[in-house]
Amino acid sequence: MNKQIRVFAPATVANVACGFDVLGFALNEPGDEVLLQTNDTGEVTISKIIGDGGKLPLNAQKNTAGVVVKQYLNHIGSSQGIDIQLHKKMPLGSGLGSSAASAVASLFAVNELMGAPLSRTQLLPFAMEGERIACGAGHADNVAPALLGGFVLIRSYAPLDVVSIPFPKDLVATVIHPQIEIRTEDARSILKKSILLKDAIQQWGNIGGLIAGLIQGDYELIKRSLQDVIIEPVRSLLIPNFDKVKQAALANGALGCSISGSGPSIFALSTSLSLAGDIASAMRKELKIIGIDCDVYISPINKIGPKVLNSHHASSHEVTMANYSNY
Ligand code: HSE
Repeated sequence: MNKQIRVFAPATVANVACGFDVLGFALNEPGDEVLLQTNDTGEVTISKIIGDGGKLPLNAQKNTAGVVVKQYLNHIGSSQGIDIQLHKKMPLGSGLGSSAASAVASLFAVNELMGAPLSRTQLLPFAMEGERIACGAGHADNVAPALLGGFVLIRSYAPLDVVSIPFPKDLVATVIHPQIEIRTEDARSILKKSILLKDAIQQWGNIGGLIAGLIQGDYELIKRSLQDVIIEPVRSLLIPNFDKVKQAALANGALGCSISGSGPSIFALSTSLSLAGDIASAMRKELKIIGIDCDVYISPINKIGPKVLNSHHASSHEVTMANYSNY
């Protein structure tokens, strides 16, 4: 009997100002949904993608979701056929970990269908491989928080060593997504290959301070530490009115504000939903002035990562993305 499962995986904010490639956190929304169904073909296929504006390949060998599922099945020595339907519920090229959410949702779903032989941490290298395919670099600061939830530090890449960081429960993220697209690959290619020691000193002071602030629930320390002297000065040039948007966030009670992942999304952290709303309005206003529209997301920190929305045996009838709402 064939089985199917529907899974949501969250968007993520990578870098968190001072933690380029080593720190990220998960949001409650937006995110991606996948529907995976076993079959007898022995192949991994993608039968449908919704919400991508036709931009993503349906060819499973070229699509991050398809590739990671195939690699996972090879790894566990299974020739199970799997069909994937992908529902993109977040913008592509937004700096919100879109490819990571698709890869993590698909991996989590296939692992569940196969009886969960691998732990979340064991799924991480497969998700990182998805990032390498999507943007040329196997960074883990989106996939790790998408898989584990919360704030995750990538202490080391070789060997891989990830650490979940406790955080204060009142922390809320405001994220605005200006409606322009920046490819992660491009945003990485403009970065300098070497940095000044004085900048490195400031940056590792801040990342240490941010981690300590999160663990201790010390908002003043978090505020002092949410600064990026290395990446933001370069990448912010790609985001219209970035400086004014950031100033607006800080003037309205944000603990800090910086680029989300490789941009163009901009995130701010604050200590209540009401502050997060004020910050969103102020940030949006600065983009509106220059005629740029934006999506706004306000979310507490996601603690759980991927979520099973429903699963069942699928012999009698098939669930499609279109009739999810009837479920
Ligand atoms: N750390 C990565 C980067 C995240 O900033 O390029 C990409 O979302």
